Amino acid sequence: MALSPSSLANARIDGRRFWSTIERSAAIGTWRHGLNRLTLSDADKAIRDQFVEWCGGAGLAVRIDEVGNIFGRRAGRDDHLAPVLLGSHLDTQANGGRFDGIVGVLGALELVRTLNDLGHVTRRPIEIVNWTNEEGARFSPPMVASGCFAGVYERDWVYGRTADDGATLGGELVRIGYRGEVPVGGVVPDSYLELHIEQGPILDAERLQVGVVTHGYTSHGMLVEFRGETAHTGPWPMQSRRSALVAGARLVAAVDDIGWDFAHVGGKASAPRLQAWPNRAGILSEWAQVVCDVRQDDPVIAGIMAERVQRAVGEAAARAGCTCEILDRWNWGGRIFDEAMVELVRDTAASLGYSHRDVASQAGHDAYFLARICPTAMIFTPCRGGITHNDGEDATLDELIPGVNVLLHAAVARADR
Ligand code: GLV
Ligand code: MN
Ligand code: MN
Repeated sequence: MALSPSSLANARIDGRRFWSTIERSAAIGTWRHGLNRLTLSDADKAIRDQFVEWCGGAGLAVRIDEVGNIFGRRAGRDDHLAPVLLGSHLDTQANGGRFDGIVGVLGALELVRTLNDLGHVTRRPIEIVNWTNEEGARFSPPMVASGCFAGVYERDWVYGRTADDGATLGGELVRIGYRGEVPVGGVVPDSYLELHIEQGPILDAERLQVGVVTHGYTSHGMLVEFRGETAHTGPWPMQSRRSALVAGARLVAAVDDIGWDFAHVGGKASAPRLQAWPNRAGILSEWAQVVCDVRQDDPVIAGIMAERVQRAVGEAAARAGCTCEILDRWNWGGRIFDEAMVELVRDTAASLGYSHRDVASQAGHDAYFLARICPTAMIFTPCRGGITHNDGEDATLDELIPGVNVLLHAAVARADR
């Protein structure tokens, strides 16, 4: 059934129901004040099970693809048309917040429930999705499963991503029962919309309700490996040392220096992870790996920063007498979003009477990969002080509701086309 335009225009989500869903999610994998729900962990399995149950309760047909992406489909009046896809991720960082990607997945679920309450069937089908391993916290790099869906990464390469304990992404999918049967990708959605907390301070500082995401900072990431030689920390001469840990540590500091050199233009450079082996007292390490990334609004500057990092890799290796190899590279961001979709988000926020502004995203998002295959846009909601990837991440229901209502109306506008 199609609703009259006026009853549809007045549709709003049920805030209390949405909040209780967020709270139920926050009880799965609880850690300090937030969440530690690393991808494909037991806690991730538990929230997946809960999500599948919620989808069933909302009348969605659930399917799970080979990399564990979970889709819930609401049929359209013209069900053969390409679906409008909405979602984000339910996995978190090790000291993550309860809102991060969760608002985007559970906001999409709330949207479906709202349409069910209204009895409105859109022309196109609507699908909601939870992407596997957005965070890249347990298996590097981030967003591999949305990237696989978009044809950027090979399925078997994704399966081979390995955690610290030797577990592989593919093995963990099987272990928790989420290696689905449905081939990954191959379907081009009509469009993709992702709601997310801003993960930055602008909306909160300016007391604005909605962020219209125009584009993403260009980001270049690398996984770097150093190889040296073990030796005794006492007798072994300084001149002969080849500590991979020292090479890695030099790179970590050099990357931070690059970030400071570009800080005046909003550049960011991070080396958030350094591993070494054997990494024990009394012995020099023969092996180290560093994950690093640079981000800047201007793709040219981001490219210059990435070149500086690449040079720093060689310099760090040379100073420590080690060899080096860049094992993986990834990049995303730029002016990738669809202008008409961005305008739809902006117009929807305005027509609902919400205060809003254009913003750039500085974090990685699954939307960046979806933008490679279909018209895509993002909606941001405020989060307190921009604090995120921290258990202190915070937002009130009143701060989240406008974003979910924009998602509702923008998605319906698109799905009724
Ligand atoms: C992923 O979310 C990132 O921003 O690295
Ligand atoms: Mn996220
Ligand atoms: Mn995150």
